[in-house]
Amino acid sequence: MGKTKFDFAGQVAVVTGGARGIGRGSAEAFAEAGARVYVVDLDEKDGEAVAQGVRAKGGKAAFLACDVTDSKRVKAVIDQAAAEAGRLDILVNSAGGFWQQLTVEETSEEEWDKVVDLNLKSIFLSCKFAIPHFKKQNYGRIVNIGSMAGVSVFPGALSSPPYSAAKAGIHSLTRVLAVELGKHGVTANAIAPGTTATERVVAVRNAEQMAMIGRNTLVGRIAQVEDMVGWVLFLCSPEGGYFTGQTVAVNGGRFLH
Ligand SMILES: NC(=O)c1ccc[n+]([C@@H]2O[C@H](COP(=O)([O-])OP(=O)(O)OC[C@H]3O[C@@H](n4cnc5c(N)ncnc54)[C@H](OP(=O)(O)O)[C@@H]3O)[C@@H](O)[C@H]2O)c1
Repeated sequence: MGKTKFDFAGQVAVVTGGARGIGRGSAEAFAEAGARVYVVDLDEKDGEAVAQGVRAKGGKAAFLACDVTDSKRVKAVIDQAAAEAGRLDILVNSAGGFWQQLTVEETSEEEWDKVVDLNLKSIFLSCKFAIPHFKKQNYGRIVNIGSMAGVSVFPGALSSPPYSAAKAGIHSLTRVLAVELGKHGVTANAIAPGTTATERVVAVRNAEQMAMIGRNTLVGRIAQVEDMVGWVLFLCSPEGGYFTGQTVAVNGGRFLH
């Protein structure tokens, strides 16, 4: 099967959560398509390795250490990327996740705040600080990685209440961003991935569980990182300019709404 080619030459992308999973796949794909990429992540070792891997292949990438819930640091890395590169075209917010499946009753206030801050406040912060750069050049692309957990709930299955609520919040915030920024040449969209076989997911699920997830989709397999990355690139492409305020459900037909 051939591969669709994107051209991001001359563009500058900031990818949060770029050290791993969907963020890493997106960062590497942007670089392969000619963009200058800033890999923003907590994980200095893996983040630096992603940037070095891109440079070793002749691409342009730098790692910027950042806790995406730390307002001052988020502003600093976005301003640094835009200042160094001279512009900022793309912001992909992929940092996120949760650690525990609990009922609402079991969820502590600390757990709520931690998960909502990581998944939702982080996106508010990065968008807030990227917007002035996008407005200056009258162009920008925002892609927020939401989740099917922010769209649907499985009756009977435990989830993470703050994660589900935060992901639903992302989809809503994405629409607000689209409304505010349309007149400035900026699109904002979200992706709601189904379960995707990133390292983190593979580490906590056995082969039978992964196969079961696949059997519940219409395409018959669990998603791979590449299944998300193509959508990220398309939504950030110049061709994607007439598509904004949407959440794209990339779940192999597991949920039909
Ligand atoms: N994989 C799935 O099945 C799936 C499904 C639906 C939605 N999603 C969403 O898709 C996004 C990417 O998922 P993924 O599976 O690719 O995630 P992942 O492999 O866990 O990668 C997330 C990256 O974000 C980093 N990170 C965590 N907390 C951070 C913080 N405070 N500041 C900066 N970076 C931080 C992580 O670092 P550490 O590893 O050091 O924590 C990791 O490098 C997430 O928002 C997730 O909720 C994933």
